[in-house]
Amino acid sequence: MDVYEALYTTRAMRRVRADLIPRDVQARILDAAIRAPSGGNTQNWRFILVDDPAVKARLGPLYRDCMAQLWSTGYRERLERARATPDDPASASFLRVQRSAQHLADHFEDVPLFLMAFARNDPSGGSIFPAIWSAQLAARAEGVGSTLTTVLGGFRRAETFAVLGVPEDRGWEMAGCVALGYPTGRWGIAPRRPAHEVAYRNGWGTDLGMAIPEPLWNGSAAS
Ligand SMILES: Cc1cc2nc3c(=O)[nH]c(=O)nc-3n(C[C@H](O)[C@H](O)[C@H](O)COP(=O)(O)O)c2cc1C
Repeated sequence: MDVYEALYTTRAMRRVRADLIPRDVQARILDAAIRAPSGGNTQNWRFILVDDPAVKARLGPLYRDCMAQLWSTGYRERLERARATPDDPASASFLRVQRSAQHLADHFEDVPLFLMAFARNDPSGGSIFPAIWSAQLAARAEGVGSTLTTVLGGFRRAETFAVLGVPEDRGWEMAGCVALGYPTGRWGIAPRRPAHEVAYRNGWGTDLGMAIPEPLWNGSAAS
């Protein structure tokens, strides 16, 4: 797959089939992920692949509780506003993400594979998120959908560490839990605010000197 196709069409794919992801595909995703850069090439990371239904059954209720906490705390006002103005395009878009995120929570145990990522001495996450994103891009190249989530480590860290047997005393933090599965829907280009609206040249707030109103990879070859 062309690298630009992967970059433009790797999106949060939260509706996935229960079909298992073959081990050779898992290996290619993981092996691509650990090629990512880390500060000083320290590679201070660990990954846990979770596909055991018994482990997923213990994590599912925790994950659903995390999402319930998310909707009732950080996203509460935004959700209430969106529900009050459902016809507003921004509200409609947010409500779509909310429904999709809740779908993932409601079907957590049906997701065939999770990639849990842990990092040490990396408070910004700058040395672990490149590897996570590489895993997601590699998954895209394999036709596997992915969604990065961070709520487990945020809201139910201790219980998640206990379920996964992560040592509490060696400085590991959970950076993310990536859901992986073959998507039920189609791949599409991620809609984003155009680059020229969020980028400047030579100084803050200046004109970038070029406009990019439409995605430069046009998706005609998307599959
Ligand atoms: C740091 C981070 C945390 C995220 N946490 C969650 C999460 O807890 N649950 C979820 O469903 N999606 C989560 N996402 C996925 C985002 O919602 C998604 O990337 C965003 O809505 C853009 O989606 P799109 O690429 O499909 O347009 C997270 C993404 C990032 C980068």
